Amino acid sequence: MTSTEPVSLPVSVPVALGSFSELWSPRILTTVNDYDVRVAKVEGEHVWHVHEGTDEFFLVLDGELHIALRESAGERTVVLPKGSAFTVPRGVEHRPYAPVRTEILLLEPSGTLTVGDRHDDVPGHVDVTTGHALA
Ligand code: NI
Repeated sequence: MTSTEPVSLPVSVPVALGSFSELWSPRILTTVNDYDVRVAKVEGEHVWHVHEGTDEFFLVLDGELHIALRESAGERTVVLPKGSAFTVPRGVEHRPYAPVRTEILLLEPSGTLTVGDRHDDVPGHVDVTTGHALA
């Protein structure tokens, strides 16, 4: 049988998380249709930004993630302890913040930039990327 199917292999989330140490620098675990499943280690502040064309899904694997949101009703912050999931709707300006070292899983269309389509000045500790391949 001839096949051009890509070979799909299992991936260990803990091993993937153990393979890098850079903060705010997502790794692509796998893709689902045209979405990336990414994992990242984070601590401290990200940058205010907005994804005009897509929602962004967060799952906290360890630690605690805060996401500040600028909505039409005003600004608020959601607090996501370990095990919590949250979706930032498209078009909503947001700024993630982690008070302690935190591990997160993200789901977003392949090619989505970490700093969105519009953003404040990007601090040096924030990686501007569409996600890196796992080593
Ligand atoms: Ni975002």
